[in-house]
Amino acid sequence: MRIILIGPPGAGKGTQCQRLVEHLRVPHLSTGEMLRAAVRAGTPEGMQAAAYMENGQLVPDAIILGMVTKRLEASDCRNGCLLDGFPRTLPQAATLDELLERRAMSVDGVIELAVPRDELVRRMLARKRADDDPEIFSKRIASFEVQTAPLLDYYQRQGKLASVDGLGTAEEIFGRVRTAVERFSQRGVRRGHRERTRPEV
Ligand code: AP5
Ligand code: MG
Repeated sequence: MRIILIGPPGAGKGTQCQRLVEHLRVPHLSTGEMLRAAVRAGTPEGMQAAAYMENGQLVPDAIILGMVTKRLEASDCRNGCLLDGFPRTLPQAATLDELLERRAMSVDGVIELAVPRDELVRRMLARKRADDDPEIFSKRIASFEVQTAPLLDYYQRQGKLASVDGLGTAEEIFGRVRTAVERFSQRGVRRGHRERTRPEV
């Protein structure tokens, strides 16, 4: 299965993906983690990305798309993957759809983790990542609202969106996430069945 997790900074995308990876046995692709690794390794992409990340801004699509395309083409992604933090802009979403379509694949479902801002701030203050400074965090939230939130409508129109309440313990939320994934997989089976039984014309 190919599943996307969307949510503001601190919504629990990484936390829920860690659990889902065990459950679905597909790789976890976090663009934030890939970028942080590139920054640590001092690659040209990492050096370019660092200035944006330190400032709470999105890294340009050109860098992200090159990185994700290469990763999605790896053999371990053939049977699916969990996308965490990607896509984050409408052009990224459109590119992902095209890339998968060329390989006769598609996104099976999108999970939105909905968490109110005061809880996001509480979680951010309890963590100590380099970009968890209150001012940078506000910019990350603003970038989510302006650039990423429109994707919810994009996937809703494709009938792929499941909104999950992201408040509660990580275990409670994982229960809701699993229910959403089961629905995606049932829908996939029905769609596959319809496609197989469609009369030849
Ligand atoms: P990225 O690394 O994706 O960061 P983010 O979206 O800001 O989200 P976080 O990783 O902070 O939060 P999360 O939702 O994963 O929550 P987590 O599980 O960690 O991106 C970083 C930067 O990279 C971006 O700002 C941008 O510059 C760049 N970037 C990345 N992708 C890009 C793209 N596609 N295009 C352009 N630029 C891109 O949880 C947060 C905290 O809360 C943790 O401490 C956790 O332990 C805790 N927590 C989790 N669940 C709960 C719970 N239920 N109750 C209490 N605490 C909880
Ligand atoms: Mg994360």
